Amino acid sequence: MTLHIVVLAAGQGTRMKSRQPKVLQTLAGQPLLGHVLAAARQLDPDAIHVVYGHRGDLVRQAFADEGVRWVEQAEQLGTGHAVDQAMPGIPDEATVLVLYGDVPLIRPATLRALAAAATEGLALLTVTLDDPNGYGRILRNAEGAVEAIVEQKDASPEQLAVTEVNTGFLAAPAHMLRGWLQALDCKNAQGEYYLTDCVAASVAQGGVVEAVTTSDIIETLGVNDRVQLAQLERRHQLRQADALLRAGLTLLDPARFDLRGTLTHGPDCVVDVNCVFLGQVELGEGVQIGPHCVLENVVLGDGVRVEANCHLSGARVGASAQVGPYARLRPGTTLGAEAKVGNFVETKNAQVGVGSKINHLSYVGDAELGQDVNIGAGTITCNYDGANKHRTVINDGAFIGSNSALVAPVTIGAGATIGAGSTISRDAPAGELTVARGRQKSLAGWKRPMKGDKPG
Ligand code: UD1
Ligand code: CA
Repeated sequence: MTLHIVVLAAGQGTRMKSRQPKVLQTLAGQPLLGHVLAAARQLDPDAIHVVYGHRGDLVRQAFADEGVRWVEQAEQLGTGHAVDQAMPGIPDEATVLVLYGDVPLIRPATLRALAAAATEGLALLTVTLDDPNGYGRILRNAEGAVEAIVEQKDASPEQLAVTEVNTGFLAAPAHMLRGWLQALDCKNAQGEYYLTDCVAASVAQGGVVEAVTTSDIIETLGVNDRVQLAQLERRHQLRQADALLRAGLTLLDPARFDLRGTLTHGPDCVVDVNCVFLGQVELGEGVQIGPHCVLENVVLGDGVRVEANCHLSGARVGASAQVGPYARLRPGTTLGAEAKVGNFVETKNAQVGVGSKINHLSYVGDAELGQDVNIGAGTITCNYDGANKHRTVINDGAFIGSNSALVAPVTIGAGATIGAGSTISRDAPAGELTVARGRQKSLAGWKRPMKGDKPG
């Protein structure tokens, strides 16, 4: 089958009250249109045409690398007019599938069924709603065959009572659709060219209209305002949480879980409340994540524990390592197995060897730490001289006393000990104690000044 997908994305989205075009608003961290294009691509179509209008420059910019064909609809004269703008780029033998830039959670399986139902004629996706208000109603004849769609604003009271509604998703052979669209008029309550009038046109030619129905309402829900956007976000998150629970991930509260990307996990991982996962996150086996953590593009090995209130981005953490509470791992951080990075520690572009510890109040950036290194509280790698970044290398088994400043570029030898409070600006030899601080002295017989002493 030659498949051409048309995505309608020309609407202004006035009710969003935003300077951004509606389809760039995000759901689960991705623009609405991004979700739709991802679903479309799953069908491996011959082309995807995006009909844009309002602030189209921004939409095109945001999806410049997506390989879609852009079709401008300068004036929004209705959904039928919108699809018609794309037709010159669609060959007669194609099946056309119409999607919406503001209906983000449509499932590829449903789209496949819809496209497959449209080989001989028009196919619609319909859904039955408790409250059909606002939607076009599906009109069926005595035999149950679809005869027409009537828009809410054009419907009679009896028609308004119908609860089977048009989701807007539709598919049809291109040569037929072309004819119906060319014959559309705008003699209706809204003065628009309705895509939905293709149904009556098809029926008038003796065609059979297939109705594919879905019981999954969420996939048909559109976004018109921020209330709907927030509701859809929650429903989507709950659905993702549900799938993860079923796949064996423990979420202490699925209602307080956010995934904006993909999360993979081994068996017996536990995620406490209020964690946010961004980008691509991989958890090994038996990983435990405390409450209030943000994990972005990270890989955590088997048995890793991340305690409460940590922020990890672009990091890899080795098996059984421990992070936090209150740790920040920035991009380029790798922790070896059984390493520990604790309270109020920030790392960046730092390779920390097996079993090494940075337990309290430190900044370790542009650094390479060997195995079993111990970094005392308050240690800082001074990696930046105001113009360039320099590396700190700390070899196996070194011990850095508390409150040391390591002025890079600098190397600490294996097994070296640095006295607490040192400012180290030259390499420290292996196995030796290096101290770089003022000597302590005591002044015998010194008297503390008293109130009333004469100055001088
Ligand atoms: C449409 C359907 C209705 C269905 C409902 C489902 C028509 C005539 N009606 O109504 O049967 O129940 O969707 O949500 O199709 N758009 C353009 N260019 C235009 C007009 C619209 O790109 O000129 C886009 C909008 O950005 C929007 C979508 O098409 O994403 C639907 O348009 P809208 O005007 O919201 O249609 P509804 O009145 O909701
Ligand atoms: Ca709408």
